Amino acid sequence: MTATVPRPTAAKPALRVLRDRVLRVAELVTTPLLPADYLDLIDPLRSGAALRGRIEAVLPETRDAATVVIRPGADWQPHRPGQYVRIGIDVDGVRMWRAYSITSDLGRTDGCFTVTVKAIPGGKVSNHLVRSTRPGTIVQLDQATGDFCLPEQRPDKALFVTAGSGITPVMGILRNHPELTDVVLVHSAPTPDDVVFGAELRQLAADGRIRLVEQHTDTAGMLDAAALAALVPDLAERATWACGPVGMLEALEEHWAAAGIADRLYTERFRPKVLVTGEGGTVTFTKNGTSLEADGATPILDAAEEAGVLMPSGCRMGICYGCVLPLREGAVRDLRTGEVTTAAPGDGVLVQTCISAAAGACDIDH
Ligand SMILES: Cc1cc2nc3c(=O)[nH]c(=O)nc-3n(C[C@H](O)[C@H](O)[C@H](O)COP(=O)(O)OP(=O)(O)OC[C@H]3O[C@@H](n4cnc5c(N)ncnc54)[C@H](O)[C@@H]3O)c2cc1C
Ligand code: FES
Repeated sequence: MTATVPRPTAAKPALRVLRDRVLRVAELVTTPLLPADYLDLIDPLRSGAALRGRIEAVLPETRDAATVVIRPGADWQPHRPGQYVRIGIDVDGVRMWRAYSITSDLGRTDGCFTVTVKAIPGGKVSNHLVRSTRPGTIVQLDQATGDFCLPEQRPDKALFVTAGSGITPVMGILRNHPELTDVVLVHSAPTPDDVVFGAELRQLAADGRIRLVEQHTDTAGMLDAAALAALVPDLAERATWACGPVGMLEALEEHWAAAGIADRLYTERFRPKVLVTGEGGTVTFTKNGTSLEADGATPILDAAEEAGVLMPSGCRMGICYGCVLPLREGAVRDLRTGEVTTAAPGDGVLVQTCISAAAGACDIDH
């Protein structure tokens, strides 16, 4: 009997055809584990595998922040400065996904990129990354994404307003855009020692690359928009990028809108802006069998995880769609807009659980 070997095509070159055939034969001898499983153990970062990264180092920055150096898999695409990456890491045996802005210089020659994480009180992933993660740990990755980036046409004058860990995407921009000549950075942190990248930022200021204004909030209090305008008198002439707590961003958005320059302000949020809450209800996860009482202000994702339900997730703020599940019956409210989505029995309306709260009883297919 003769077997016909498919001719390699442009889409499936000869080498890949050969590799696929070898893998199929190997599958027969390695069942129940697949050859890919063995390859994952030997070379988890290889081309064609699910995108992963290996943590090479965790470098302390401040008492509660650290830079994590990650060697990405072979299929990693270079990011644009200001973008973020979704990272999946196992914490106490549970895979959790979070988003982190990329802080590294694209010119690194070791093939790694970095994210810089600030541990927040009670935070599962941030504390794990800053305090417990060891070099060699394999994490899951998505390709970098996000549009908190400079436009092709660089602004003549730029202003960056940041607070706390909000410095991270801006550091990614400053490290990669030395062509910016007129930059003001206003950064808030509790004390001088809490300024993430403090030494590097002060050096950039000493070198004349940026004008740096540090607001140490433990002694000087929070900076409001009027004080910012006094510090940066030509603020209206500057393209502005801001990243920090929700309250700070809202105050800036109001100020820029009132001045008629809202189109010159770009913001990056680490948490969703919750505008509307309402009555909650009983949430039932139909496959898992768990039912829980959720109030109308808590995202279904948070309520479920609190009850021990393993949920898909990503950015946790409505931008990546990593948390989408079908609503089979009942109603949920979008916490950002107040819009209520309803499903009749048997429907499968997709809802983002990270920004949706129960609006009465609801069944989620999970
Ligand atoms: C686009 C994007 C980029 C991001 N970049 C960075 C970055 O570069 N560096 C960084 O440190 N973080 C960044 N984050 C935030 C990060 O994804 C996590 O939200 C953060 O690390 C907290 O996760 P956790 O698991 O420790 O906290 P969780 O266990 O999820 O939450 C613990 C508690 O803290 C609250 N909480 C959650 N997130 C925050 C927050 N950001 N600030 C204050 N309270 C919070 C929760 O409501 C909860 O009560 C980014 C988020 C987004 C969406
Ligand atoms: S986790 Fe990203 S959209 Fe919900």
